Amino acid sequence: MFTKELEVTLQKASADQIKPKPDQNSLGFGQFFTDHMFMMQWNRQQGWHDACIKPYQPFTLEPAAMVFHYGQAIFEGMKAYRGKDNQIFLFRPEDNLARMNQSALRMCMPRFPQERVLQALRAMVYLDQEWVPSTQGATLYIRPTMIATEPMLGLRPAQEYFFFIICCPVGAYYSEGFNPTKIYVEDKYVRAVPGGVGNAKTAGNYAASVKAQVEAQEKGYTQVLWLDAVERKYIEEVGTSNIFFLINDELITPPLEGTILPGVTRNSVLQLARDWGYQVSERRLTIDEIFAADKAGTLQEGFGTGTAAVIAPVGELCYRDQTIRINGGKTGTLAKRLFEELQAIQFGYQEDPHKWRVRVG
Ligand code: COI
Repeated sequence: MFTKELEVTLQKASADQIKPKPDQNSLGFGQFFTDHMFMMQWNRQQGWHDACIKPYQPFTLEPAAMVFHYGQAIFEGMKAYRGKDNQIFLFRPEDNLARMNQSALRMCMPRFPQERVLQALRAMVYLDQEWVPSTQGATLYIRPTMIATEPMLGLRPAQEYFFFIICCPVGAYYSEGFNPTKIYVEDKYVRAVPGGVGNAKTAGNYAASVKAQVEAQEKGYTQVLWLDAVERKYIEEVGTSNIFFLINDELITPPLEGTILPGVTRNSVLQLARDWGYQVSERRLTIDEIFAADKAGTLQEGFGTGTAAVIAPVGELCYRDQTIRINGGKTGTLAKRLFEELQAIQFGYQEDPHKWRVRVG
């Protein structure tokens, strides 16, 4: 249920609430938060209400809040970029908000008025514009989140929700930066099953992935490459990103069949590669096909795509007792071209033929 004309009020941070800005050269990822946040509430009677932009602050929840017990929690990740002529842009925010509403549907949570929330988000980023970094490659990461707040221990969709957006200036997601990552092919744990919630950006998917990530890191790998849960042979996603392989000049990524996240960066990469005349396939790809291509000398590149990671080249892949190096362990030409093109569009230095950029202010 949408509340018509959701009104958004503004309470600016006072001088003593304005925080010192962190050093832009050592931002890391997700450690510092800006001066303001957006929030709104939902209940059955009023729909979405009490929408406001206010100083970043903690909030209290009842211990019985349903999110703590049954995990109704969804989120998104997008970025604001300070680019050409000091302008600030968002990248395909409508797509992220639309995906969040899809996640809400899957998790029996209320959908929200996307346009109104986007307006509020733009206003908030404008207000916090000094927080949008100006150093090379650094951005303002934006995290919209919705959680079930009704205090109730019976299992059913909650009848009260809290939606909020927080922002943090970030550098590269991986400590490798834009350098090849080492990936462990996971064949013990699975991320998502057909009919499950793999295509929803819900917190539980990430909680369930941590064990595999920790074990892979203990073995010296950056992330895991998930295989399908049924046959354990088709590749699905890598860690927190979608995955692409370039084999024999065919750019391949797994299809959206319900178990992987429909990534906005994934979609942008598909579009750019098609624009450039690549043969692009959204098709099932087995891990054996990748290793066979390596043997045959036709495996050219591998890279992950995601909002946080942008393009993350895969330099090494370990499956059971075999390890292969892709492109000699170096960043491939296509990954580099995609990274540069995407960044040039996102930061406003390049034509934007697909109208992906949204200006703030
Ligand atoms: C993103 O890429 O925006 C994500 O949500 C992944 C997260 C683990 C940082």
